Amino acid sequence: MEKYNVIVIGSGPGGYIAAIRSAQLGFKTAIVERYTTLGGTCLNVGCIPSKALLDSSEQYYNALTKFKAHGINIGDMKLDFTQMIKRKAEVVKQTCDGVAYLMKKNKIAVITGHATFISPKSISVGEQTFEADNFIIATGSKPSTIQGVTIDKQRIITSTEALSLKEVPAKMVIIGGGVIGLEIGSVYARLGTKIQVVEFTDKIIGNMDSGLGKELQKVLQKEGFEFYLSHKVSSATVKDNEITVTATDSQNKTLTFTGDYCLVAVGRKPYTENLGLDKAGIKTDARGFISVNEKLETGVTGIYAIGDVVRGVMLAHKAEEEGVFVAETIAGQKPHIDFNLIPGVIYTWPEVASVGQTEEQLKQKGVSYKTGGFPFKASARARASMDTDGFVKVLSDSKTDEVLGIHIIGPRAADIIGEAAVAMEFRASAEDIGRICHAHPTYSESLKEAALDAYDKKPLNL
Ligand code: FAD
Ligand code: NAI
Repeated sequence: MEKYNVIVIGSGPGGYIAAIRSAQLGFKTAIVERYTTLGGTCLNVGCIPSKALLDSSEQYYNALTKFKAHGINIGDMKLDFTQMIKRKAEVVKQTCDGVAYLMKKNKIAVITGHATFISPKSISVGEQTFEADNFIIATGSKPSTIQGVTIDKQRIITSTEALSLKEVPAKMVIIGGGVIGLEIGSVYARLGTKIQVVEFTDKIIGNMDSGLGKELQKVLQKEGFEFYLSHKVSSATVKDNEITVTATDSQNKTLTFTGDYCLVAVGRKPYTENLGLDKAGIKTDARGFISVNEKLETGVTGIYAIGDVVRGVMLAHKAEEEGVFVAETIAGQKPHIDFNLIPGVIYTWPEVASVGQTEEQLKQKGVSYKTGGFPFKASARARASMDTDGFVKVLSDSKTDEVLGIHIIGPRAADIIGEAAVAMEFRASAEDIGRICHAHPTYSESLKEAALDAYDKKPLNL
């Protein structure tokens, strides 16, 4: 029986980063993955393929709607959707191959197959058994569904199928106005699909600062999205390749929606099937997440869990940070993660990005705060690229001016939020950001202006 210092179960962004850091710290490390390609949800059926299709569809949409204004006439344009999907598959393959290369480079043993604990110190993978001093569980998550909706993967689909369709649907009904619904909805809306989003709550992207959802809804409606908020879905059925979704609105009125596909995007659930948690003595909480302490250690000494399978936001970069954290903890170091400063990004166009606390959270906690804003329509850089929708909002403490939250909807918000996270990690004040020299013309100047507005209501370009 082969023995390791560290065995990581699952090769998503949590698992493969945990394995690399473990190997870097000198541990004899193995990683187990049930699929033949490494990279987990994120690389295979999540972050990377969705961004590849978002980029392709954005290029197509810009060619259709913006090129003329830029003085570019391209005549008749034709969509080659098969090529779009093929390019996405190539991007995924290159990225997954990259992880395989990194495993080799770091001398990490890759074990292919489904891991099941047989004791707190050993797992089986097929016919083989492996022992380790430490295990890191990084088994991720799977799509959830709701009562009355059975996913058949043909017409009633999850993001996984939606990223590999063979045709552009004429009509798609999306259950859930969260991140997946709006990103995948954007891909197909840009390619000509009529998108209807049926959302249970009264807002889209409900976990983010509410100003962002309102602005995004306005922009997506211009792209042709239809939103049905405060609608409770009771069923989804398929007949002759047509789906019907039934929902009731806040007045208890029943509505039906029909389409070629129904995308179910109502959240994801932790994946621990056949992991043998009981054999190791590992506990889960009421929602199925593996319970961990502040060191991300389960109730069993030497068994840790990270990423989507534990509490917290289900994001690739959160999983990665936890991977590093656990490897360093095993090595006796004292790493730190500020879970309040994990940025969240939605890759629609305009992009939406956030770090720190929302206005709703500050109100709820009774924190006295100042707010500063800057609209992209006042940015010369945004005018140059015709990307004037959206704004930056900076929230800072009324007394100390410390930045408490930064919320952006606008061009390249996903990249600007990096500066916001750095500033907040170093506990910058709004004045600090406002006094830092930002290159001109850039989208990031809008963050400086919003910070100046939060500081003393004296932005320079508004
Ligand atoms: P996963 O990536 O889910 O990996 C878990 C791995 O463990 C899988 O490969 C699985 O096969 C393997 N496994 C499970 N059980 C076993 C077992 N018993 N034995 C062996 N192997 C096992 N996040 C972002 O931050 N940015 C984005 O842009 C983004 N886009 C997304 C788009 C979509 C469509 C989806 C679905 C998700 C997206 N996410 C995004 C979320 C992101 O994919 C997850 O947060 C991330 O993948 C979690 O990483 P993980 O390592 O915890 O688990
Ligand atoms: P989500 O939690 O973002 O959104 C689910 C939405 O479905 C919510 O708005 C919720 O109110 C709604 N909903 C729940 N039950 C419903 C019902 N019965 N009827 C109608 N609506 C209902 O989950 P989503 O979009 O499935 O994404 C899953 C996870 O994947 C997210 O937690 C996210 O972290 C991750 N992800 C991240 C991305 C990114 O970082 N850009 C991209 C895609 C996914």
